[in-house]
Amino acid sequence: MMSEVVLGYCRPGFEADAGLEIQTRAAENGFYGFFRADKGTGFYLFEVQQSPNSLLDRLNIKQLIFTRQWFLVLGHHVDMCRDDRLGDLKPSLLELPLISELRVEHPDTEPGKELSRFCRKFSVPLRQILKSQKCYNEKKVAHCLTAFFVSGTECFVGIAPVSNMNPQPGGIMRLKFPAESPSRSTLKLDEAFLTFIPQNEREQRLRAGLNAVDLGACPGGWTYQLVRRGMFVQAVDNGLMDDSLMETGQVSHFQADGFKFKPKKKNVHWLVCDMIEQPQKVAKLMAQWVNDGWCKEAMFNLKLPMKRRLESVLECMEIITQELKQPFDCEAKHLYHDRDEITVYLRKQ
Ligand SMILES: C[S@@+](CC[C@H](N)C(=O)[O-])C[C@H]1O[C@@H](n2cnc3c(N)ncnc32)[C@H](O)[C@@H]1O
Repeated sequence: MMSEVVLGYCRPGFEADAGLEIQTRAAENGFYGFFRADKGTGFYLFEVQQSPNSLLDRLNIKQLIFTRQWFLVLGHHVDMCRDDRLGDLKPSLLELPLISELRVEHPDTEPGKELSRFCRKFSVPLRQILKSQKCYNEKKVAHCLTAFFVSGTECFVGIAPVSNMNPQPGGIMRLKFPAESPSRSTLKLDEAFLTFIPQNEREQRLRAGLNAVDLGACPGGWTYQLVRRGMFVQAVDNGLMDDSLMETGQVSHFQADGFKFKPKKKNVHWLVCDMIEQPQKVAKLMAQWVNDGWCKEAMFNLKLPMKRRLESVLECMEIITQELKQPFDCEAKHLYHDRDEITVYLRKQ
């Protein structure tokens, strides 16, 4: 029996939601513990008490909505000597399992970002140490060692299985804003497709010629992502659509209420929805579209309330489960480009 501490990264401001979520999911798997989270720090610590195995072997990071990245803490170093931070870390580097990746990271906060240059530089001698200890092999898929600097003199060191962590550095998918898109929201749908659709299936499931419906489409950032992949889009919104998107000939604009809109034909593959509406109402609508076969796959945002955000998300998931009368696939994540919202993927199995 052992106790362990898991460190998770999240969007600053969502530490308590992320901590409460891992505590809840862990308890469902028989791991009991408590979390510590300071608002605005971009991370939390979850202390698991007395468990026969490690939480990271039991829980999949994909099951956690608010956690971007995680690792099992091996050491916490405070008051580090600025002239010899490497020397300070050495006690955490003894008896490591096989390491195939190294990351030196910082929280996604303004003070954290000031450490990014230092972190890049620090990874060079740290990798040398791992190599000299003969526990580092980039060719194997094993563990990732992370040194997570929360300030210039405080660092958490830990490991996570490469197979059960976010492959993106810092758990953040950086995407370039396409200048032709009418809104920055476009990055949310791009990130969602890249996150939820495996690379080897994208060509098929996001192919040209598919029909899509975009509820709450204006000015057209999400429609842009569908159009650029060659799809035909029914864009539903009382607002105005971007002219250049309309000129492609791939978009039909319906000035209608997304809750009342019905597709003209039953050949819609993708339903996407970014309506600013009550999340429970949106969750129900999405589940109905999928259940009734009005679309094959759905990708949508659920806008979060200011308080009790996890509760609201769980309520929405419950609504989806109640509405769908058949087995379904559902994944949800607080993506990097999401703010006060999460993104959900849904389809019938
Ligand atoms: C966040 S914006 C969408 C941005 C869009 N996804 C983009 O990338 O440009 C939300 C949109 O939802 C629309 N909306 C809100 N409630 C709606 C409803 N009941 N039916 C249709 N559109 C709705 C608003 O008019 C607004 O244009």
